[in-house]
Amino acid sequence: MIEASNMHGHDGAFSADKFGNEMFKRDYRVKYAYVAGAMYKGIASVEMVVAMAKAGLMSFLGAGGLSNTVLEQAIVDIQAALTEGETFGVNLLPDYATPEKEMKRVDILLRHNVRYVEAAAYIELTPAVVRYRLQGLHRNERGEVQCSNTVMAKVSHSDVAEIFMRPAPTSMVNKLLSQGLVTAEQAELASQVPLAQDICVEADSGGHTDRGNAYVLLPAIMHLKEQLQAQQQYGQPVRVGLAGGIGTPEAVMTAFFLGADFITTGSINQCSVEAATSSAVKDLLQTINIKDTGYAPAGDMFETGATVQVLKKGVFFPSRANKLYRLYNQYQSLDDMPEDVIRQLERSLFKCSIDEIWQQTRTYMQNSRPAQLKLIETNPRKKMAAVFRWYFIQTTRLALRGDEHNKVDYQVHCGPALGALNQLLQGTAQEHWQNRSVVWLCEYLMNGAARLLSKRFRQFSSGY
Ligand SMILES: Cc1cc2nc3c(=O)[nH]c(=O)nc-3n(C[C@H](O)[C@H](O)[C@H](O)COP(=O)(O)O)c2cc1C
Repeated sequence: MIEASNMHGHDGAFSADKFGNEMFKRDYRVKYAYVAGAMYKGIASVEMVVAMAKAGLMSFLGAGGLSNTVLEQAIVDIQAALTEGETFGVNLLPDYATPEKEMKRVDILLRHNVRYVEAAAYIELTPAVVRYRLQGLHRNERGEVQCSNTVMAKVSHSDVAEIFMRPAPTSMVNKLLSQGLVTAEQAELASQVPLAQDICVEADSGGHTDRGNAYVLLPAIMHLKEQLQAQQQYGQPVRVGLAGGIGTPEAVMTAFFLGADFITTGSINQCSVEAATSSAVKDLLQTINIKDTGYAPAGDMFETGATVQVLKKGVFFPSRANKLYRLYNQYQSLDDMPEDVIRQLERSLFKCSIDEIWQQTRTYMQNSRPAQLKLIETNPRKKMAAVFRWYFIQTTRLALRGDEHNKVDYQVHCGPALGALNQLLQGTAQEHWQNRSVVWLCEYLMNGAARLLSKRFRQFSSGY
């Protein structure tokens, strides 16, 4: 939080480096309590992470959807560019269907000494994320428990926050011990630290979203943290930050005023020079306003009804994706669907036949997920979902490579925070994404928030 002692000078001027939790800045070795969150498929790119790290700022590589080889190379490239040991992190997502794949990701992170992980989309713990945290546990020379692997869990519900704020469950610790994946000392120390040192509360955001409200979620999870701290007496209390909807200095100031230990941005960073998406996508993004995003089903969680927030202006993706979800709920299988509906999908959405899609899907799954393929082949409803999911994979690819002929099908994850920022930048050099770097965006928001707070403080103390 902000304290009066953090004021600079006598005029009530606050500075950006005073926002947020001091321990956060110390532990992450960064100048601001500010994080650029991961964006899948490497949109939060090597260039983005290196630029942020060199400026003394925290960011997470968008590891989701990258192959192990590409991920490993990206980590190597980042580490080669960061010769001063600057801080960076990598995103980790659960893989409940094939837990061994998630464990392989953690192997890579540990092998390359990646010290910071942003764990997102978890609804329950997995052995892989627990192993990552526990393998960093040790005692220092003074006998104090330390953990060199920091987990920032991004959550949008109190119950998931609580799981990460508690120590790792004993049953899971014992299992990892019996498998030789943690040492006896690490298993013994596990009860003394929370699984995640940082909880990033995600209100309505670009990408996967539960459409949470920051004013409701953040205080609730901060209170939960206080209760658990009283119970657990951690040497280093959990910190609670805020993400979702942050794209203006006003939003930054309000997040810290609410008590956020740190803040995370996402959507605004996709419209920057460092984001690894196409110029065509950035051209579209730099023109959007607050009303230009909408909701669509999430391709990777199609059957559960999970939603993503996406770009709406200039594209048909959200309406087409929602249509697929309606059809999925209306029919039991592709065979149940009327012929004219099938033909229309093939003609206007897929631009190829459903048979072709199914063949492609089968070939891919035979190689990478054979057990799941067996389930799908024997279940017509699952087969329909697999065919529909193909559209979500294609639409992401079209956007990433900036396919000129299929712009209307671009799937671009984005929230209204970018529209709010665009409004502020209109008429300035930064109206154009070519003049927006992630570091500039961070400085603009943080310094803007500091100036705004100084102004508010003067207003509060002198009356309006
Ligand atoms: C294009 C895009 C892709 C994202 N991909 C991921 C991801 O792979 N993993 C993750 O933890 N968060 C992901 N996010 C969420 C961001 O890290 C961040 O938490 C969120 O965007 C903050 O909300 P905002 O978009 O309102 O700023 C993504 C966001 C966007 C805009």
